Amino acid sequence: MVFCVLFLLTLLSTGSLQFQFKHHNNEELLEVLQDVNSKCPNISRIYTLSENSVLGIPLYVIEFSTKPGHHEVLKPEFKYIANMHGNEVLGRELILKLADYLCEQYTKGDPKIRYLIQLTRIHLMPSMNPDGWQLATDTGGTDFLIGRTNNNSIDLNRNFPNLDRIVFTNEDEHIDHNNHLLEQLTQLSEPLQPETKAVIRLIMQVPFVLSANLHGGDLVANYPYDDSKSGRQRGEYTATPDDETFRHLALSYSTRHADMAKPNRHGCGDIESSAFPKQGGITNGAKWYSLQGGMQDFNYLSSNDFEITMELGCDKYPPSSELENEWKRNKDALLNYMWQTHIGIKGVVYDSQTKRGIPNAVIHVKNVTNEESYDINHDITSVHDGDYYRLLTPGKYKVTAYRDGYLPHTKLVTVTNKPHTPAQRIDFPIKPITIPPYIRIQTDNYINNKLEDEFDNNQQWSNWAEENEPVPEPIAVQ
Ligand SMILES: *[C@@H]1O[C@H](CO)[C@@H](O)[C@H](O)[C@H]1NC(C)=O
Ligand SMILES: *[C@@H]1O[C@H](CO)[C@@H](O)[C@H](O)[C@H]1NC(C)=O
Ligand SMILES: *[C@@H]1O[C@H](CO)[C@@H](O)[C@H](O)[C@H]1NC(C)=O
Ligand SMILES: [Zn+2]
Repeated sequence: MVFCVLFLLTLLSTGSLQFQFKHHNNEELLEVLQDVNSKCPNISRIYTLSENSVLGIPLYVIEFSTKPGHHEVLKPEFKYIANMHGNEVLGRELILKLADYLCEQYTKGDPKIRYLIQLTRIHLMPSMNPDGWQLATDTGGTDFLIGRTNNNSIDLNRNFPNLDRIVFTNEDEHIDHNNHLLEQLTQLSEPLQPETKAVIRLIMQVPFVLSANLHGGDLVANYPYDDSKSGRQRGEYTATPDDETFRHLALSYSTRHADMAKPNRHGCGDIESSAFPKQGGITNGAKWYSLQGGMQDFNYLSSNDFEITMELGCDKYPPSSELENEWKRNKDALLNYMWQTHIGIKGVVYDSQTKRGIPNAVIHVKNVTNEESYDINHDITSVHDGDYYRLLTPGKYKVTAYRDGYLPHTKLVTVTNKPHTPAQRIDFPIKPITIPPYIRIQTDNYINNKLEDEFDNNQQWSNWAEENEPVPEPIAVQ
């Protein structure tokens, strides 16, 4: 009796319940996040995105960090977004369990989880499409398509601005501009949905380094580009300049999953899909099938973020009895992928005279591992306090920091990527140009040509989104 009362008191005082493996509805989803947040108030925070779903459900994110709510210098940011297709529900439950697990292990003193949270700001968004989830669930969760779209019948993974066309055109016309391409966008192919708009704002506001988008319907880790260069529907491998890094990232998930990378497992039915087991459980997106307006390519081409797409199983809506086992099958992969936020190099670009950090400096990388060295034509930029993060696979690189009004600074770097350690730190003190004005104009033009225009994220984006009334066009179905 005394025991019972004590137990009840404990339960009431913490208000917390043990995590249950089941399909959490939209109210229960928030309860799980609140429970985690109440158990780990020092290292977590719940926030909602700028827009609700079409039916008015808030889009929740839980953040883990030793300083919730803040970007910290040299601390890279990571995100998982699940359930973008409302009827693909496994990722949603895995993300809820992951939030519970991170809090639990941190509290228990698990050294690896503590270290991960000390080194990384992690954002977990269990559902981007709560309306679709509801419809899929109400109709039994058995249909391949019902609940896929948002409540306006729009496929959110086709609704992002198509930046692939811009980068392909720039490539063909030998225009250097290869990153942060939103500023070059002049027209949308269809109106942005509130769920899409909300996620675009998130991408523009938070300096993410790495992310993944969790889907279902196949078992494979899919990496950019998703859009084929020629427009061909299937079979056209369309590599990014970071193909080596993306392949590594996809393998970092597939090889830690219980059987995604097993060569002798069965595919999910689709003809291309039968090749995945022999490819280590990974595929280039466009090689599988081409799609435009996807979130994955948008991340890579609009920000410093690298994103891949995980297909977590043939069954889009597995029965709740399988969820615990699915967690066990995915847990190491989910954690190992988060650790990839720390591959490559990071550092601060700063003024060598004032010692102040410089945002929007361009970091350009040349791979000089072998004799046939080559430029990786996808630059990333420094953020708030001059901090930058450049994901790279092991090798030798010539890395150059550029900024308008400064002399470029190049360093030779050897990357080894020791597991479970922060990225190697390489700082760039850059020197202001102080030369006679007539020479200065030429130098500036020269540097300008190499430079990314400044894109001052959210404010500019908000204005842009409000001012540019989208031009509707028919929706591509594939
Ligand atoms: C949160 O931080 C405070 C102050 O550092 C500490 O006293 C408290 O034990 C921490 N709580 C948890 C749940 O870690
Ligand atoms: C939108 O939501 C309503 C109310 O839940 C539902 O009846 C309708 O089928 C939904 N439409 C779509 C396209 O999802
Ligand atoms: C650089 O080249 C080496 C040798 O080909 C390769 O192993 C490495 O993955 C490349 N790095 C990147 C980031 O492409
Ligand atoms: Zn999907």
